Amino acid sequence: MCGIVGAIADRDVVPLLIDGLKRLEYRGYDSAGIAILGDTCVRRVRRTGRVAEMESAALAESFVSPLGIGHTRWATHGGVTENNAHPHISHGELALVHNGIIENHEQQRARLQALGYEFESQTDTEVVAHLIHHYRAQGASLLQALQTAVRDLDGAYAIAVIDQRDPSRMVAARMGCPLLVGLGDGENFVASDVSAIVSSTRRVIFLEEGDTAELTREGVAVFDTDGTPVQREEHLSDVSLASLELGPYRHFMQKEIHEQPRAIADTIEALMGVGGFAPELFGADAAEVLRDVDSVQILACGTSYYAGLTARYWIEGMVGIPCAVEVASEYRYRTAVANPRQLIVTISQSGETLDTMEALKYAKSLGHARTLSICNVPESAIPRASRLVYHTRAGAEIGVASTKAFTTQLVALFTLTATLAKLRGKLAALQEAELLEALRHLPGSVQHALNLEPQIAVWAERFSPRQHALFLGRGVHYPIALEGALKLKEISYIHAEAYPAGELKHGPLALVDKDMPVVVIAPNDRLLEKVKSNMQEVRARGGELFVFTDADSQFGESEGVHVIRTPRHVGVLSPIVHTIPVQLLAYHTALARGTDVDKPRNLAKSVTVE
Ligand code: AGP
Repeated sequence: MCGIVGAIADRDVVPLLIDGLKRLEYRGYDSAGIAILGDTCVRRVRRTGRVAEMESAALAESFVSPLGIGHTRWATHGGVTENNAHPHISHGELALVHNGIIENHEQQRARLQALGYEFESQTDTEVVAHLIHHYRAQGASLLQALQTAVRDLDGAYAIAVIDQRDPSRMVAARMGCPLLVGLGDGENFVASDVSAIVSSTRRVIFLEEGDTAELTREGVAVFDTDGTPVQREEHLSDVSLASLELGPYRHFMQKEIHEQPRAIADTIEALMGVGGFAPELFGADAAEVLRDVDSVQILACGTSYYAGLTARYWIEGMVGIPCAVEVASEYRYRTAVANPRQLIVTISQSGETLDTMEALKYAKSLGHARTLSICNVPESAIPRASRLVYHTRAGAEIGVASTKAFTTQLVALFTLTATLAKLRGKLAALQEAELLEALRHLPGSVQHALNLEPQIAVWAERFSPRQHALFLGRGVHYPIALEGALKLKEISYIHAEAYPAGELKHGPLALVDKDMPVVVIAPNDRLLEKVKSNMQEVRARGGELFVFTDADSQFGESEGVHVIRTPRHVGVLSPIVHTIPVQLLAYHTALARGTDVDKPRNLAKSVTVE
């Protein structure tokens, strides 16, 4: 969703701001803008649409400055218009960019209007600019004005501010939305995401909840909620420029699908390093936290939720304890029953998803102390709020459609399952060795599935004119059918639904006719015969079947039944391998339909609003 970048330097920062905003495009946005110091007042350029359009306008207006802020906006309060785009300006002097939502903006707006402030947008953000200006007018420094203003705000924010009257500094604040400071040599930066500044520096400080910061060219000072100066640890980000470039690929989604063998290998590296399913993979005190858990509650959204659904089959099957999986936005608003021995597992690629974060906070407020986060972005909000963490090493995921994050989440969840099983005496040494061996072979099996791409691209041509599709799976492959349907709908805009294959006859079968393609995930597991019967139900109604199976299953192509096989059945890890074909099917179908694969309409990469 929205993105922030800001820079103070001895050189022109406009190219840095534009480059940073382009690197934030993947998060999803509908307008963009920058503000810089001018001769007498702050100068600003804003455009709806792509950053490139705003860039052309900035070039045409000869924007040059050593201090500036930029923003990509994903509309919440107020439509997609130039007036609602950030930065927002107060009295031509003070410019501000903001991520998050100010919940008491209406009261603040009324208060400021009574003080004579005029508003030009419908946003919640503009009140913050005027509020800081108001405190400045009473004699406060820029930092003091920001610190006073944020005390008047309810809600979530990451903010960066510049002021024409104080050209030697930029100030920033964070509450509920990520914001980091980048440390350069004689220049400093703020950003909502390290990718925005990685071409200038990889040295970063992650601001904590309630922090404010003052940046000059020479240094950075950070203050806690009380305004007391604090030292925050400096990190060296492992996000590389190469991971943010397309390379030889047409789309980031394609690149990220193909990176999965490497991403999985990197994710299991730590496990191979310790030589087994050891609690310390999840954190220093994991043995104590995990040893006597009596149940697991998984909380997540979207694709991460489907990873959780897959894990339920593993956890209940291999550990023998109950595992519930719930969409975070539902859990956070219902009366849940607290159980101090329950392990709360949140799963998130970004670590920023607001619903998942709030569900975690809610669980903690109920007294849950055993919390584990499976996350792809270290130092993001969700792992920081969790006692235990498993870092998936998928690398930066830019495409809105989650791919390598999902398969690495599955690897992490499988590792958790085996670790819990071992702690409960349910994993003998021989079995453990077999599972480790299976994981070691997993990148190779995933590569074999990727090699099916040409055959899947041929199927995609047949899908592209369709308006609807059904996905079926049973058991541990049912969540993979759900994931396949989500991938197809989000990037190709084909309406796709997934059902457990056994549920077909209880309603959805009514939809099946010759125009309804039915994708089936049917590996050679103990439910294959049942799935075959469900396939017959489809064929008997004239439905066309597109079946993903493996070389071990004994059925072939026939009229209306198309089959693509992965080389061999990989047992308990089969859902991970069978994810690849459904990702490729969605990707090639979207390609054939000419949609914006990496930035599908209406969607954002990190969903930081409700
Ligand atoms: C998947 O392709 C999505 N775009 C979406 O469902 C995503 O998985 C969801 O928003 C959760 O995001 P997170 O993993 O970053 O928390």
